[in-house]
Amino acid sequence: MTNADFEKIVDTTNEWIISRTGIKERRICDEDMTGGDMAAEACRRALENSGTSPEEIDLLIIGTVTPDYRCPSEAVIVQEKVGLINAVAFDIVAACTGFINGLSLANSLIQSGQYKKALIVGSEKLSSITNYKDRGTCILFGDAAGAVVIGPDSNGNGVISTFMKSDGRLAKLLWQEVGGTRNPYTPENVNNGKDKLYMAGSDVFKVAVREMCNASLKVLEDAGLTADDLTLVVPHQANIRIIDALTKRLKVDKSKVYMNIEKYGNTSAASVPLALDQANHEGRLKPGDYVLMVAFGGGLIWGAALVRW
Ligand code: COA
Repeated sequence: MTNADFEKIVDTTNEWIISRTGIKERRICDEDMTGGDMAAEACRRALENSGTSPEEIDLLIIGTVTPDYRCPSEAVIVQEKVGLINAVAFDIVAACTGFINGLSLANSLIQSGQYKKALIVGSEKLSSITNYKDRGTCILFGDAAGAVVIGPDSNGNGVISTFMKSDGRLAKLLWQEVGGTRNPYTPENVNNGKDKLYMAGSDVFKVAVREMCNASLKVLEDAGLTADDLTLVVPHQANIRIIDALTKRLKVDKSKVYMNIEKYGNTSAASVPLALDQANHEGRLKPGDYVLMVAFGGGLIWGAALVRW
């Protein structure tokens, strides 16, 4: 879906969208395709890329706020599709930070020895909860899924430090008011758009810049590293101006910061694994490289993970 498509449905311009967000296009999945379908495909490709069989996976965690069903979890749906017969599967509801929290949790469970091989997925069909009458939000979001496989490593590679934090006092800055038990779906609520995502964009923006920077510095400090040690930063692709501000505050060179927002927009929990996968396929990562991933989203909730590739 291009900026020109949005010019036809809301009062906006290509110039405004590019200069305020950096986005030119987003991918919108077919109506009959779900987040679970995309997640399953991402899992299959991650298994193939890592040379892992479905039977080896004993843990599947999916970050999503747009699951196929309210019950059971997206993860068990995907478990069945991919044939992860030896796994426990469950979801994390942490909006755009879902993948980072999933990675952090999976890493702890592997470090503890309780699990051996994990698939961590971020998957969102955001088009299903986007209000296409609200020009302040609809231009931002796209659909995607991304996945990684992790396991124990005796050479000091893998996830080396993580950080997670939230502030529930700010929950209503970015939320979907209708659809839960507090405010169930009614014809009236569906007509007034409250069943879709609402965001107080500029308020969220300020917290995002500050806390993505703090989270990044925390995982670097915990690992005894500085921003100079990083080969690549893979930030959540919410807004090019947020990424630019983060780049400046961290004092990393722009060339080290991966961006694909122009083509995909904000894909919530899928954003970081999608960008990571693309960076990897473009040859931007070598064994031993330090990669920083950092995300921020509805909750408000934020987190970072530092990985030795
Ligand atoms: N086209 C044209 N004008 C638009 C517009 C659009 N698509 N969307 C909003 N505007 C207008 C607003 O109505 C407002 O007009 P006004 O001054 O007459 O009231 C003006 O542009 C500025 O709006 P504002 O919301 O302050 O813009 P912004 O510069 O903050 O950009 C976002 C809006 C949403 C792009 C930006 O705030 C953002 O990216 N926020 C954070 C996103 C994020 O990190 N989310 C967390 C993870 S999901």
